[in-house]
Amino acid sequence: MKILNRAIEVKAMIKSGDRSFQPFKGKSMAMVFAKPSMRTRVSFETGFFLLGGHAVYLGPDDIQMGKREETRDVARVLSGYNDIIMARVFAHQDILDLAKYAPVPVINGLTDYNHPCQIMADALTMIEHIGRIENTKVVYVGDGNNIVHSWLLLAAVIPFHFVCACPKGFEPDAKTVEIARSAGSKIEITNDPKEAVKGADVVYTDVWASMGQKEEAEYRKQVFQGFMVDEALMEMAGPKAFLMHCLPAERGVEVTDGAIEAPNSIVFPQAENRMHAQNAIMLHVLGA
Ligand code: CP
Ligand code: NVA
Repeated sequence: MKILNRAIEVKAMIKSGDRSFQPFKGKSMAMVFAKPSMRTRVSFETGFFLLGGHAVYLGPDDIQMGKREETRDVARVLSGYNDIIMARVFAHQDILDLAKYAPVPVINGLTDYNHPCQIMADALTMIEHIGRIENTKVVYVGDGNNIVHSWLLLAAVIPFHFVCACPKGFEPDAKTVEIARSAGSKIEITNDPKEAVKGADVVYTDVWASMGQKEEAEYRKQVFQGFMVDEALMEMAGPKAFLMHCLPAERGVEVTDGAIEAPNSIVFPQAENRMHAQNAIMLHVLGA
């Protein structure tokens, strides 16, 4: 909550046009991407710049972590030039190794296991639109993927009701479910999206085939029949339900065009909040 409150404060300053707060002046950030990105790249780069810093983008062909060079070497070399490292990788172990070997702070910009910066932005968006996270009902419909793991890890810190409606065989990691449950949040895993969404404050979805799984896309389209978030499902959720999606969306696959364009869709304020949430995360890890 401390980081989210800071995000609200710094967002207000940036939105007002005030650029006098330059805590990252003279600082540099390395951004390592093993996968594609729009939001994560632009929100980190622009956010760091708006607060005075300079960000260096390293795309999938630049470092080739683990292939051209060992992760532990990348960690120490980049730390020699930069005050902070942000990385988007495939294996979660890579981000753990970067953090272990880098003397500077390392921020997770998505792994196959989780996407914490996304969920911080989502939490900020819920506070702005619903007023709270505690005691809300968030229903995720789709693949039990990295986004779901981050929702569960949020539920391990803030108590709320989280439901994951996914096809059999696509459930989230059982250990992560247990972490959230044992912290006191109500967690349900179901195969029935229609029943699940009833009374939801948020209906959330994400692509059925994540980065690294695109060759399974056609197969998944068959298996995930009935899990598309459309206007009818949003109607079943009830009048207070907002639609959220981390984006990029495949309209006509996991979500309809109509659902994304509806008045209760908050996917674009949600995307903007990536930058504001991450600014607060960077301020936190740099002690600024
Ligand atoms: N939501 C998200 O992380 O988007 P990008 O893949 O474009 O960064
Ligand atoms: N689950 C998606 C999230 C994209 C932001 C992926 O990993 O591709």
